[in-house]
Amino acid sequence: MAPRLILVSNRVNVPVAGVPRQAGGLTVAVNAALKQREGVWFGWSGKVSKEGETPAASVILRRRRTYITLDLSANDFQEYYNGFANRVLWPVLHYRVDLAEFTSVDLGGYLRVNGRFADALSPFITPDDVIWVHDYHLLPMAKELRARGHNNPIGFFLHIPCPPPDIIEALPHHDETMGALSHYDLVGLQTDQDADNLSRYFASLRGANQRGPGSFEFDGRKVRVRAFPVAIATAVYARAARNSVKSTLVEELRNSLVGKRLILGVDRLDYSKGIKHRIQAFGHFLEKYPEWLNRVTFLQVTPKSRTGVPEYSAMDQEVSALVGQINGRFGDPAWTPIRYVNRSYSRAMLAGLYRSAHVGLVTPLRDGMNLVAKEYVAAQDPDDPGVLVLSQFAGAAQELTGALVVNPHETEGMAAAIKAALEMSPEERKERFQRMYDHLAENDIDRWAERFLSALGETREQPGLLSSLRQLFAVRA
Ligand code: UDP
Ligand code: G6P
Repeated sequence: MAPRLILVSNRVNVPVAGVPRQAGGLTVAVNAALKQREGVWFGWSGKVSKEGETPAASVILRRRRTYITLDLSANDFQEYYNGFANRVLWPVLHYRVDLAEFTSVDLGGYLRVNGRFADALSPFITPDDVIWVHDYHLLPMAKELRARGHNNPIGFFLHIPCPPPDIIEALPHHDETMGALSHYDLVGLQTDQDADNLSRYFASLRGANQRGPGSFEFDGRKVRVRAFPVAIATAVYARAARNSVKSTLVEELRNSLVGKRLILGVDRLDYSKGIKHRIQAFGHFLEKYPEWLNRVTFLQVTPKSRTGVPEYSAMDQEVSALVGQINGRFGDPAWTPIRYVNRSYSRAMLAGLYRSAHVGLVTPLRDGMNLVAKEYVAAQDPDDPGVLVLSQFAGAAQELTGALVVNPHETEGMAAAIKAALEMSPEERKERFQRMYDHLAENDIDRWAERFLSALGETREQPGLLSSLRQLFAVRA
């Protein structure tokens, strides 16, 4: 029997007609990786059960996919999701130890929910299944599944950055969370730098036996560490962008610009995205290059995110206030320099916004990959492409060599890059775009899934596993 793929992630995006999918790179990547493949997607339903109610579980069949979801209790939601995952792991792994608020109650909640997920998933696993766990919410999942007797190949992919060992070690009890990654067969990271950081951390763990670069043994179990930069469905995005000209939203946006250039930012409201720094840099650009006053509009699309975490709600007010200050200072009755929108758009809509923008401003302070950067490139008109301004601290900067690379902490450099992007010749824009598009066309989301799963197959000396995995996952074959 061919192996089934079981995907495990905190968020599961069960498609519901007419409801836009949630924003976030993981949802987009996993959804695309499961496309046209038979498999199971397991995780949180996104719902929190009421006080005193037993959290519900559900199994939904849609075409060749099975979605198994669990609700969280109010306690679990607070301790596991808001608390440990998003107030400890998220900041620490984004190099922001200063923002981490550690409590042993939240760590207990995190480990408890991982155990509960493993209990719920366990009865669905057959010995032939291949399991692929995603992201920082579920670091101990392989350890939990192994403890329940599952010897299946289990891979893990970290969608966010992996900092150097001395930062990981600032996490209290890091051996129970980051250290638990040593129970997987394969751990995938976004960049070589992330893979190198995790390898150095693994080498420092008790009982580690390093066999070669990215190759370890723990108690006789082999573990591999490698970079697999996450990708997008490049051709699908390019097609959606071409078709977007028919959309009313895009038509209205283009009409509303009355000839002004458009700069676009698209990010969840998250401190890692550098939204404040970017808005300040735009203000500096207007001040330093007044010839651009009244000739450019900056549209910042920012769906709200993780509103139960205090650092996120504080940021909401700060960003709104900053937008107000810059609009108040530079705007006039007929021109609002910054349009700030707190809602989420569908892929088709976003593709149209990207294609309408002369400059894509993607300047996170730290980001695992940043799919928006890749989507912006894929959506451009090859005959008249826009220019990507990209932070050196986004994983995507390793691949998108045609971008204008900036340091988001350097306001003047960002302002200069915005000007250079707006004034770039068509020949240079086309050359830079083509270089990046060719890379994205060659390295798309299907290749990403295929590469990860082949590498996972290679970790086991099980006769036939690799070839049956290839058969199931090589969508191009
Ligand atoms: N996104 C979306 N609608 C929006 C804003 C964002 O669908 O209104 C998607 C966007 O297309 C991208 C993802 O959310 O695929 C964001 O991924 P990224 O890696 O840039 O950042 P993350 O949110 O995962 O940190
Ligand atoms: C990033 C994380 C994902 C997460 C997404 C949205 O992409 O890597 O794991 O799902 O942000 O965040 P949320 O907390 O809403 O799931």
